[in-house]
Amino acid sequence: MAKSRLLSLLYPLLLAALFMHGYGQDKKVHIVYMGDLPRGDFSAESAHHSMLESVLGSTLSAKESLIYSYGRSFNGFAAKLSDEEVGRLSEMDGVISVIPNHILKIHTTRSWDFMGFAEGKLSGSQEGNVIIGLLDTGVWPESESFIDTGMGPPPSKWKGTCQGEGNFTCNNKIIGARYYNSENWYFETDFKSPRDSEGHGTHTASTAAGQKVQGASYFGLAEGVARGGVPHARIAVYKVCWSFGCATADILAAFDDAIADGVDILSVSLGAPWPFPYMEDPIAIGSFHAMRYGILTSNSAGNSGPYPYSVANFAPWTLTVAASTIDRKFIASVVLGNGKVFTGLSINNFMLNGTYPLLWGGDAANYSAGADPDIAKYCFSGALNSYIVQGKIVFCETVWDGSGILLANGVGTIMADSEYSKDFAFSYPLPATVITTEDGQQILDYIRSTQNPIATILVGETWKDIMAPSVVSFSSRGPNPISPDILKPDLTAPGVDILASWSPVSPPSIYWRDTRSVNFNIISGTSMSCPHASGAAAYVKAAHPDWSPAAIKSALMTTAYIMDSRKHPDLEFAYGSGHINPLDATDPGLVYDASEADYINFLCKQGYNTTTLRLITGDNSSVCSSTVPGRAWDLNYPTFALAIEDGQPIQGVFTRTVKNVGKPNSTYSVGVYMPSSVSVTVEPSVLSFSAIGETKTFTVKVYGPKLAQQPIMSGAIWWNDGTYVVRSPLVVYNILPGATYSSPYSMTKPQKTPKFEGSSVYHKNGILGHD
Ligand SMILES: *[C@@H]1O[C@H](CO)[C@@H](O)[C@H](O)[C@H]1NC(C)=O
Ligand SMILES: *[C@@H]1O[C@H](CO)[C@@H](O)[C@H](O)[C@H]1NC(C)=O
Ligand SMILES: *[C@@H]1O[C@H](CO)[C@@H](O)[C@H](O)[C@H]1NC(C)=O
Ligand SMILES: *[C@@H]1O[C@H](CO)[C@@H](O)[C@H](O)[C@H]1NC(C)=O
Ligand SMILES: *[C@@H]1O[C@H](CO)[C@@H](O)[C@H](O)[C@H]1NC(C)=O
Ligand SMILES: *[C@@H]1O[C@H](CO)[C@@H](O)[C@H](O)[C@H]1NC(C)=O
Repeated sequence: MAKSRLLSLLYPLLLAALFMHGYGQDKKVHIVYMGDLPRGDFSAESAHHSMLESVLGSTLSAKESLIYSYGRSFNGFAAKLSDEEVGRLSEMDGVISVIPNHILKIHTTRSWDFMGFAEGKLSGSQEGNVIIGLLDTGVWPESESFIDTGMGPPPSKWKGTCQGEGNFTCNNKIIGARYYNSENWYFETDFKSPRDSEGHGTHTASTAAGQKVQGASYFGLAEGVARGGVPHARIAVYKVCWSFGCATADILAAFDDAIADGVDILSVSLGAPWPFPYMEDPIAIGSFHAMRYGILTSNSAGNSGPYPYSVANFAPWTLTVAASTIDRKFIASVVLGNGKVFTGLSINNFMLNGTYPLLWGGDAANYSAGADPDIAKYCFSGALNSYIVQGKIVFCETVWDGSGILLANGVGTIMADSEYSKDFAFSYPLPATVITTEDGQQILDYIRSTQNPIATILVGETWKDIMAPSVVSFSSRGPNPISPDILKPDLTAPGVDILASWSPVSPPSIYWRDTRSVNFNIISGTSMSCPHASGAAAYVKAAHPDWSPAAIKSALMTTAYIMDSRKHPDLEFAYGSGHINPLDATDPGLVYDASEADYINFLCKQGYNTTTLRLITGDNSSVCSSTVPGRAWDLNYPTFALAIEDGQPIQGVFTRTVKNVGKPNSTYSVGVYMPSSVSVTVEPSVLSFSAIGETKTFTVKVYGPKLAQQPIMSGAIWWNDGTYVVRSPLVVYNILPGATYSSPYSMTKPQKTPKFEGSSVYHKNGILGHD
């Protein structure tokens, strides 16, 4: 995350370079998406070739233009096309969408213990049958997390390969690896192989499924045993991200391969910062086909929070994961010459012996470089005068990567920025800490009022974070920008200051030229929470190999730890169902299952018609039963969301079906909590089962007066049989005025029935204030 935030500042430059480099002519890489593979004999490559030939006019230009034929798991291709060619292809039979090649961004281990998952209970062979595919920056295969001691050969279902180029090798842990680069654009630091030069993919893969490594630490900080969620599961690596970002044509190629290769769970920690309709979003398309093959895709929710509607990767067939804190925070204190101590956030492994002169960056401007105090106070690289800074600690008025002070031979830096001193820490190439803007003012006052100001920065410590878990500020928030009645994100998992494996050639701090080398690093992001959820999903899959993606997802969501609403003004839009709880998820009692047909029905209501649907499903029997757009209230989703247009009264009816996966004979009764101004009726209120696999259907009627000044009303519905508690949040919210979603849906007034109301917020045992 750290890196991606700073990188985002460089992005315009990178994209401009990309333009000049690959896009000299006006042909650009596009994805031509054509839905499912046709039945029967079908040669994707020749079909795509002849389509291109008819548009481009010659065999040779068709050949030159074609980059990928997607034909293992779904139908489509990527090719270099001009605008005019795009126009003609879009008109052709069988084409669902033509999508420009967008560049997306990549969005220890104490974290598993924190969620009560100190040790898995499944056998190594159960876990060893599960394959997690990761679409990321590749992997560093020699990392200790990927040693395959004690692991047999890959399961027989595995059909993937290892692109062992350079010195890259696979083993029984990393059983497959491929790489994709449709733009054919490589930086100096990129390895033309599945090898990870950035660290991100190594970090996510080891978080999901790394072996246990004793004594892992970041230069001695956070030392302990590092391990992934399913240490015996297999890893399949699909490298789609490079120094310039992750191209959507490559992402789709990776989905096409991963599905056919036989992965069980896909982990995708990347995304776009703006919403696409589902069939124009390669991650939604790829994960839709994965779902059809029984593969759950776990996605990062994005790092664009805390703003409403910022959530990415919100398709209902995927798991969307927010990021929250664990009970460990990284602090580094500053001690001034007058004895005052300020506590800042930083992953500071440096030990300063004694005090050093303290200086305000603004007093060290390098005028010949064009800087003045107003620039130098931010301590950007090149703005400081090294004669003045040498041997001193520099106080800076913003958070930057520390390079300005390092290159000017300073000793350390104190940075003041309230945004970056709240809930997550960065690491720097020199002694550093980040304090609040108010504390910064006190330090400035001290510098101004003292003849010879001095200070020291103490070596970093880890403190217990009693507020944990709380969703971190940068984690993207709901509501869902495309389907307002599907609550997103789905749940939250640890994504703040996570220790996991790293590429030794990648900088260990946020300064991109930091040449130190580490095998473990501590970073933050929904990129880090996503593989925690992928690991947990793989754990459920290992316990229940025959469960559908929706069942696994439901199990993870309905067993989630309840988050403390008092710490989160945006409630479920921050954390969805709550905090992931891998152990309980293997035994949820009931699941909200959903099949491809249910998602198809959902797509029909979202405006797809029989023609476009058939393209997606490749099946002439798919019919949209209604051409009238409708609401998503009947998709068998494990949460309930009701979006209300401004000024309208609250009314909605949900239908849901639960499947018994607990005890054969069981009777569940419903519990409801909702603020009293809203009426919630569940019928029937008791569900009796006499067999495993039996299903029962119920309806939930929600109505009430207009919402006034209430962005979100939050409640819950749970089924309890004395053993299991199957909980779903229920949220009612106002669509922001000006949001264009409108629905012709009209509802008959619900009958007045006795109201079922809980008296207080329901908490499962021992959920809040984990210790
Ligand atoms: C493999 O190649 C990479 C990149 O050149 C290099 O950094 C690494 O040390 C090599 N590893 C082995 C085991 O040779
Ligand atoms: C401080 O002392 C420790 C232990 O002697 C040493 O490792 C470290 O390099 C010293 N730090 C500086 C900045 O001199
Ligand atoms: C000031 O900046 C100039 C131009 O970047 C650089 O050459 C010079 O070394 C700097 N001076 C000091 C004292 O840091
Ligand atoms: C289905 O949707 C497509 C794309 O929106 C449109 O071109 C087509 O005319 C529609 N077909 C029917 C039968 O409504
Ligand atoms: C579906 O219908 C189309 C057009 O009617 C036909 O060309 C195609 O062969 C049919 N496909 C299948 C699998 O029946
Ligand atoms: C479930 O209940 C039915 C009817 O009460 C009974 O016949 C059956 O044996 C019970 N099954 C189990 C597994 O307890």
